[in-house]
Amino acid sequence: MAEIYTVAILGVGARGGDVYGTIINDKKDKFRIVSLCDKKPERLERFGEKFGVGKDLRFTDENEFFKEKRADLLIIATLDTEHARHLLKALEKGYDVLCEKPLTGSREECDRLVAAQKKYGGKVLVCHVLRYAPAFMKVGELLDSGVIGRLVLIDALERVGYAHQAHSYVRGNWRNTKVAMPMILAKCCHDLDLLQYYVGAECETVSSIGDLAYFKPENAPEGAARRCVDCKYKDTCAYSAVINYIDRWKESGQPEDSWPYNVVANAPVTEEKLLKAMTEGPYGRCVFACDNDVVDHQITIMTFKNGVKASLTMTAFVDGGGRRMVFHGTTGEIIFDEAENLISVRKYGKSREDIPIDRLLEKGYGHGGGDAGLINTLYDILSGVADERTSLKASVESHLMGIAAEESRLNGGRVEKVHK
Ligand SMILES: NC(=O)c1ccc[n+]([C@@H]2O[C@H](COP(=O)([O-])OP(=O)(O)OC[C@H]3O[C@@H](n4cnc5c(N)ncnc54)[C@H](O)[C@@H]3O)[C@@H](O)[C@H]2O)c1
Repeated sequence: MAEIYTVAILGVGARGGDVYGTIINDKKDKFRIVSLCDKKPERLERFGEKFGVGKDLRFTDENEFFKEKRADLLIIATLDTEHARHLLKALEKGYDVLCEKPLTGSREECDRLVAAQKKYGGKVLVCHVLRYAPAFMKVGELLDSGVIGRLVLIDALERVGYAHQAHSYVRGNWRNTKVAMPMILAKCCHDLDLLQYYVGAECETVSSIGDLAYFKPENAPEGAARRCVDCKYKDTCAYSAVINYIDRWKESGQPEDSWPYNVVANAPVTEEKLLKAMTEGPYGRCVFACDNDVVDHQITIMTFKNGVKASLTMTAFVDGGGRRMVFHGTTGEIIFDEAENLISVRKYGKSREDIPIDRLLEKGYGHGGGDAGLINTLYDILSGVADERTSLKASVESHLMGIAAEESRLNGGRVEKVHK
């Protein structure tokens, strides 16, 4: 009989509980969730019941949790600034680990993580889930097949989207670099990870510019209130919390447990809970009156050791979300565009093949099938039959790109070496 791996989860929020825990809990022939740790008792209760974890193995205090090794695998899905500390503890305890991104914003901590893995030997898989998403994998296969000749340049666009920016990076968990990583790591570490995977060589130098252009007090419209529920623009402002959380929730059929409403109010979500969140919680704040400092637009350019160049533009100022990447080769180009549902392979002067992205997708989970793809591959990695695509080593490499990009941005776009 195939081995069943026991799993503990540290941080049972949106990622640890709703995504990884839920997918893993559906694969009872492969995994068994045996222990949970979360500071919030209501989350422990909810997911403890859902996953059938005994009350004696649910912890609100991480020190209690780390007193013993609770399972074969630990999933770390706490917030950005805790990942490195938790990963170090987990490796010391002898766990194999699935760790949320970003790992850290510090070069020294990258070194400490690599040294700890060398010392304690646990497997570490970082949740760069897009590498497990069929459409992104398809692009990798196309590049490897040589269909566009030699890759010369990648032009990448990360459309965060105005509503997602307001939710996560103005009002939410990733709004401020005191409590989260800078945007280039918090959001764009996926893009950097993909770029280095597609280029297939280490990045040498980066230069980056960008800042917070819009979501600050001086841009508030005349007479705006500090909370949208009290504001005269609540029915007209694109960023109105009333429109984005109450009206949209109603339009989408009043779901009890779906993003972003289940972040604003605990599931099961009700209108009453949402209204309370609007009057008391962080998500009801005016976007021009928050404690945010994270950039809303940023452009990064990169050179790689094999001569390939890349640019990455991140912007909040776009209607929908989704990534667009154009791969320019010597004999053709590939256009990947999530918003257009398209991978288009164009050989110069010859054929054009269009592949609708949704034809490649598995239904059910987010990130274009990447969340489910990651968990499927995780089992094979633990069993030693699949390669660690998003290993600690590969992930540290893209984190160094992000760290160098932020150093550059803070130095007015100065060209920075990735490896110092
Ligand atoms: N891989 C991806 O594509 C992806 C997508 C979204 C978010 N993320 C990352 O996943 C992480 C979690 O995000 P989320 O949306 O699930 O956040 P969340 O706030 O919903 O969940 C985090 C949970 O961790 C708990 N927690 C924090 N510190 C703790 C501690 N010391 N001990 C015990 N519990 C603790 C919190 O109480 C919370 O329940 C973030 O770092 C985020 O950047 C990754």
